[in-house]
Amino acid sequence: MIFENRLVLSAMAGINDADFCIKQKAALVVMGGFNADKKAIKAAKEVVKRGRKEFIFEDPISGIEEEIKKIYKKKKFAINVRSASVDGYVEVARLVKNYGGIVEINAHCRQPEFVEIGCGQHLLYDKEKLVEIVKEVSKFCITAVKIRGGLNIDYLELANSIRRAGCKIVHVDAMIPNGLCDLKLIRRLSKTGFTIGNNSFVDVRSGEAIINAGANMVSAARAVLKNPRFFDEMLESAMLSDKVVL
Ligand SMILES: Cc1cc2nc3c(=O)[nH]c(=O)nc-3n(C[C@H](O)[C@H](O)[C@H](O)COP(=O)(O)O)c2cc1C
Repeated sequence: MIFENRLVLSAMAGINDADFCIKQKAALVVMGGFNADKKAIKAAKEVVKRGRKEFIFEDPISGIEEEIKKIYKKKKFAINVRSASVDGYVEVARLVKNYGGIVEINAHCRQPEFVEIGCGQHLLYDKEKLVEIVKEVSKFCITAVKIRGGLNIDYLELANSIRRAGCKIVHVDAMIPNGLCDLKLIRRLSKTGFTIGNNSFVDVRSGEAIINAGANMVSAARAVLKNPRFFDEMLESAMLSDKVVL
């Protein structure tokens, strides 16, 4: 797969639908996060009660398919997924395969409602389950795994295990608690294969620093909410405008 530039729109639940994503100049847009099974949908409803945004589809597969249909001919896309069951990921993978997209397994979300049912960040501590999900999803389409930095885990070992299971893209939110972006973590992970670096990409300088640390692509979420023309402006950088091959 060839990406026209090094920019990625990172997932934002309740915000990154097809209409929002289609407007972005990033070569890859991550849609969702979407919730793929009953337990994850129930958790999302609880999260909404606390005032956070979520996409809630009573029938997740047809809801996600409607979004994909609006975008797949125009943009390269990934679907960020949470599911309590392995089957939930597999169903989304079967769907995404038909439209040539990427499945991004969400091993990142730290909302307690999701972590309690085995989704999101829980998977970083349950490597066996994460590896199983990666193996199953990779039978159908390109697999990305979104992970979170700043935790007391062996990131290199994790990245190597999921890559052996078929993961083609590690997307790392290299957050440092109360800090900015952990470029050292991005540097280490990038040595294991194709990597999207994320966190606090707010201008050309911070984006280029993530690429210089070894990431193949760099993603943004909050900066795009602040400035709808964020990616247009980032394309003024030659480094960020470069094509990249997965
Ligand atoms: C409103 C909002 C919703 C988010 N929802 C998701 C999500 O559903 N799945 C996910 O993997 N990350 C989610 N994230 C995390 C972002 O994709 C990104 O990793 C994080 O905001 C750090 O990047 P940034 O500094 O560019 O914002 C969300 C972030 C925000 C601000």
